[in-house]
Amino acid sequence: MASQLDPLFAKRRQKVEDFLAHAICATAPDNLARAMQYSLLAGGKRLRPVLCLTCAALCGADEDAVLPFASAIEMIHTYSLIHDDLPAMDNDDFRRGKPSCHKVFGEASALLAGDALLTDAFACACQAQVPSAQLVPALAELAKAAGSGGMAGGQQMDMDATGKSDCDLEHLRSLHAKKTGALLRASCTCGALLAGAGRALYERIASYGEQLGVAFQIVDDILDEVADPAVLGKPVHSDRDQHKVTYPALVGIEQSRLLAKEHVRQALAALEGLGDDARLLAELADYTLERVS
Ligand code: IPE
Ligand code: IPE
Ligand code: MG
Ligand code: MG
Ligand code: MG
Repeated sequence: MASQLDPLFAKRRQKVEDFLAHAICATAPDNLARAMQYSLLAGGKRLRPVLCLTCAALCGADEDAVLPFASAIEMIHTYSLIHDDLPAMDNDDFRRGKPSCHKVFGEASALLAGDALLTDAFACACQAQVPSAQLVPALAELAKAAGSGGMAGGQQMDMDATGKSDCDLEHLRSLHAKKTGALLRASCTCGALLAGAGRALYERIASYGEQLGVAFQIVDDILDEVADPAVLGKPVHSDRDQHKVTYPALVGIEQSRLLAKEHVRQALAALEGLGDDARLLAELADYTLERVS
């Protein structure tokens, strides 16, 4: 991560790491627990849980109270990566600087590790120490973001668009908003819901998360073209090799950068007037453009 980020990022990231280290169910069979832990504890930027903690704190919640919920979002994200790498999907052999889950544990255990991370995540999220009237809407929001109208739906759109020559930019933006944007947006809005934020503040945070989410996937597409795989921790040119529809494929690298920048500008605009408390969110939006991994 960029060293110029507010030290709050590293502090919150560490809290998530510590929580996740003990998050796997003690009664899970060894082989399943090992596959889950292998991917969950392999590093990763932990952007989503830190966004959740940061938005919750911005809206007045105690971040330790929402830590189980924030960490659960990382469990869902990790499940999505395990399944995304499977031969039936992107067929990628490296993730987070290590062989992908299915390369080490086999496809069946990788499928189950993903299933279990997704399901256990909801049990984990329920441990958040906030009133039920705030927890239940956040759980519903997270489920919707991960499900058929969100990430899973976006992954289907991604598979359907692969190899097609008639996908336009508007369709691709909507695909990115679902497959990646929905969970990033929910990472932010769930923080607000857990804190019991009012409508106006919720809307600002939702708009920030939505714009950040699309920018994040545009940059992911760019990195697949230009990054150093050793730094990225996953293969490059995977999208091109598989004839994925991406921003660089549709409009080229330079125009993709400009579009990502425009989404970040809109994310930053949503934060205007929120004061110093929103500084880390603004830094994370800028970081999204500059990141190299
Ligand atoms: C990768 O997400 C997959 C996308 C949704 C683009 P990240 O870039 O956040 O991956 P990790 O968590 O840091 O490994
Ligand atoms: C994946 O998008 C989004 C997910 C929901 C996992 P990509 O397929 O581009 O993500 P990477 O590049 O493999 O991390
Ligand atoms: Mg994919
Ligand atoms: Mg992939
Ligand atoms: Mg990618």
